[in-house]
Parts: sequence; C-alpha cells; structure tokens
Amino acid sequence: MEKNVLALQLSHLLGEEYSRDWVYSLIEIPKQEKLGDLAFPCFQLAKSFRQSPAKIADQLAPRLKHDLFASVQPTGGYINIFLNQRFVTEHTLKQLLTSGTDYGSHEFGANKNVVLDMSAPNIAKPFSMGHLRSTVIGNALANLAEKCGYETVKINYIGDYGTQFGKLLAAYKKWGDEEQVRANPLPELTKMYVKYHGASQHDPTLIENGRDWFKKLEQNDPEAINLWKWFKDASLTEFNKIYDLLGISFDLTRGEAYYNDKMDATVDLLKERQLLTESDGAMVVPLDEEGLPPCLIKKSNGTTIYATRDLTAAIDRYRSYQFDEALYVVGHEQTLHFQQIKHVLTKLNLPWAQDIKHISFGMMLQNGTKMSTRRGKTILLEKVLKEAIERARANIEEKNPGLADKDLVAEQVGAGAVIFHDLKHDRRNDVEFSLEDMLTFEGDTAPYLQYAYVRAQSILDKGGFELDKADASLDDSLAWPLVKQLRHFPNVVEKAYREYDPSKIARYLLDAAKMFNKYYAGTRILQDNQLDARLTLVHGFSLVIKEGLRLLGIQAPEKM
Ligand code: ARG
Repeated sequence: MEKNVLALQLSHLLGEEYSRDWVYSLIEIPKQEKLGDLAFPCFQLAKSFRQSPAKIADQLAPRLKHDLFASVQPTGGYINIFLNQRFVTEHTLKQLLTSGTDYGSHEFGANKNVVLDMSAPNIAKPFSMGHLRSTVIGNALANLAEKCGYETVKINYIGDYGTQFGKLLAAYKKWGDEEQVRANPLPELTKMYVKYHGASQHDPTLIENGRDWFKKLEQNDPEAINLWKWFKDASLTEFNKIYDLLGISFDLTRGEAYYNDKMDATVDLLKERQLLTESDGAMVVPLDEEGLPPCLIKKSNGTTIYATRDLTAAIDRYRSYQFDEALYVVGHEQTLHFQQIKHVLTKLNLPWAQDIKHISFGMMLQNGTKMSTRRGKTILLEKVLKEAIERARANIEEKNPGLADKDLVAEQVGAGAVIFHDLKHDRRNDVEFSLEDMLTFEGDTAPYLQYAYVRAQSILDKGGFELDKADASLDDSLAWPLVKQLRHFPNVVEKAYREYDPSKIARYLLDAAKMFNKYYAGTRILQDNQLDARLTLVHGFSLVIKEGLRLLGIQAPEKM
C-alpha cells in the first residue's frame, strides 16, 4: 500500500511522462534502518531535469505528504521515507485479524486453472532425489497457485513404459527370485537392472533378450504384461509410503503407458499437418527454424518414444482441463525435450502451447556428481526420510520427553526438515545432498521455524490470548521490523508464484522467525504493558509462519 501511495504521488508530481509503474519499479527498501522504510533514487531524473539528484530530492521531499508517512528526508540523491509506525502497525494487525489464514491470498488466479506435472518417478527403480525435488517443488507451487486463487490439478506422470522394461523383464527371467522381489521389490529390481547393465557389456544375447521382451510387452504378451503390472503395483505401493510420509497427494496418477494406444492419433495429426519428415527411417518433426534438433516421433523400428507420449498427454490434458497454465516440474536435463514439445504443439497451431512451462530445477549432487541408478549410485529417499524422523524423535525424547503425540510430531519435524532443505534453495541451482545439513535442527531449517511457531503458541497460551481480546493498536518501535515483515507476506506470496519460486517463501519465513526471536529476546512480552496488543502481534506472526509452512508443504506442530 505504502509503495503504491508513494509511486502515485511521485508520478503525479513529476508529470505525465513518469508513470506510476515506472516510479514503482524504482522504489527501494533500504537495508539500513536509519535510511527509513522506503527510498526513491533520483539519479535517473537528473538528465531530463538538468539538476543534480541531490537537488531534485531536496525539492520533491517536502511535497510528499500522506498519513502513512511520518517523515520524508532527502539524503544524497535519495528520498527516504519513514513510515508512520503506529498507523502502519495498526493497519497490518487489523488485516491479519480480519483475514486469518486467508492473509496473503490473492484473486488474480480466480476462475483459472493450473495443471502440474510433478513427481513422475519411474517404476521398478528407487524413488530418487531428483523425483523428490519435483514432488516437493510441484506441491509447493500447487499450494501457492491455490493461494493466488487458481484451481489446480496435480498429475503424477509415472514412468511406466519404455525399452528399459524389456531389459528388466529379461533380467528378471534370468536371475529373478519371486520371493525376494515380493519381499523387497525396489531394491531387488534395481539390483537386477544394474546387473543386466554390467553383464550386457560382454554378453550380446542379453541385449537381444531385452529387445525381445520389450517387443512382447508391446504385443501384449500375457506373461510380459503380468510381470510388468506386478512391478508397477509393487512400485506404486512403495512410492505411496513416501508420499504418505511427505503428506503429499495427487489428483491423478497416470503413467506414460496410458498413452500407448493414443499416440497413433497424434502421429496422424502431425502427418495431416505435414509436419513429419523421414530421416534415416525415423519420423521426425524438423525444428530448424527454431534452431533446435528435430523432435523424434517414431524410431526407425516403429516404436514411439517419450516425446510422442508427452505430446499426446499434453493434448489430452488440454481436452480434459482447458488449463490456463501447464507446469512441468522436471529437471534441467530435459530442457531440450520440453522446448521441442512446445514448438511442435505450436506448429500444430494449438494456441495453448504458449501456456506450457517447463519449471526446471538443478540436480541433487553427491560429492559434486550426479546420482545414477544404473551405476547403483543412489540414496534411497525412504531411508533419508526415516532417518530424519528418527533423529527428530530422539531430539524430542531428549528435550521434551513428556510430549503427547511424539510419533506424529517426529514425522512432522523429520519430513519438514527434508522438504525445507530442498525448498530453501533456488530451484535452478544444484543442491549438494547432505544428510547432516538436512537434519540439523539449528540454523536455516524447518525445525527452526517450527520451533518459533511453538514458542509463539506457548506465549499466547501463557498470556491467555483470545481473539475477542485482540488489540491492533500496538505502539512499539522494537516490533517494527517484524511488523514490516508480516506486512510483506502477501507480496512474497504473489512473487513466489509468479516466479515459480518457493524459495522466496522459505527465505521469507527464516527472516520472519529471526525477527520474532529477536523481538522475543528484547521484550518481556508477558510482563510489559500493552499485553493484548503484543499478543496480537505474536498471534499475527504465528498465523504467517503456519501458513507459510503450509504453502511449502510442511506442518507446524503446536508443541514440540
Ligand atoms: N519419468 C520421467 C523421468 O524420471 C519424468 C517425467 C516428467 N514429465 C513429463 N511429462 N515428461 O525422467
């Protein structure tokens, strides 16, 4: 609000050529408290006003007036604005009180929907850290989208098809032990897959077996189909354990194989529009004009591939949902694939192709290198989660042995730690996997935030806070940094969604918690005067922390 008021007044004073938006985009939030709450740099005006920035600031400052501004001071080419703390504090706390958990919500997504392609692990393989990234980033984006008014459809596009299943079937037929696979499906299947890769280096018959089994699968051979279904069900059961621990669910779980009998229509459509060309016996859509390699649609042996499936799935999704945005939360390494998909759909004259967005993210590295199933170099996510929960449990046992619901709280804290470790990083960067870092309960972690929430709840309890006693008229300059931070929440929500960047929320929450802890350390909240007003601030803080954590997919226990 205050930024708006300032931008409007300034653009008014400066004249038509200087739009509100232009002024708005230049407004800064000073890092140092002594420079006020807002600042406007006058440097870009110097040329056209033929005056020094300092002079311009001197002239403009006395003409800016509003109830929101306590004082306006020119300083070295800047106009620094000090807000009226009482006025703004009261306004902020009132907003928090009237909105409750809706605080920070927006309407710009109303009557629109977003389809999210997320998680998408591959069956018969362990759930990898890359799929964890897709799952938690996708889930946070869905929550943010809903907070901004959109409806969402979360789709888990399971990797349940491809030539690798031929290899797996061949491996199972050669080395498989039904009992062992039943007891321990993912590790056993992975072991066989790794073994196949090693052995096929010097045994070409294995490669042939793999091809044969894939052919059988394609031709609906009952044995092949039964094994494949078994591997799929067993995998999904394992994946669901992880989703349960993470507290994440989907609106639709639909694998790639679903599109097997629907791809012909896509190939026909491409033919009809004369987009297909033959190249070495394969069918491709050339993308020279776009400066990209051709998009492979059908291999020379007639099998369709990943891209054909994704094109078919996208068309199907648009038919089903008429989405306003379709977000594909998938790692960087598939950037070319999604560029090709988007361009091919554009060539088909489908206007919604523009609404497809690849939300890419960096890799989870281990000692600086990529983890790979084939080389057997993966960390099992389920193990990580369980370990996190165990450590949380041990921590509770040590610090608060009398706590009720210990198991539940340990799950909330452990899973929260794993989720937050991912989301606090800008998604585009690689993240070095570190169990230690993930599970430290001090520093920039979920448990730190959860603990701040618990502390706030206990203050509210002790002070006997009730909503009808709430009092927004707090007069306390020590509270000002925290008030400003709470005031900022709606903007951060909007930005985090528009930039598809949950780390904005994560960092915001860390700052808010630090400000709260500082306030708590410097003020005897329960013993000072203005008790109800201070408690109202604490209530506002706890609302924001809980809601922010919820947006990230993390729960806030009431006690821990
Ligand atoms: N299962 C794929 C993989 O692990 C990811 C699928 C992503 N989604 C999609 N529509 N292509 O690489």
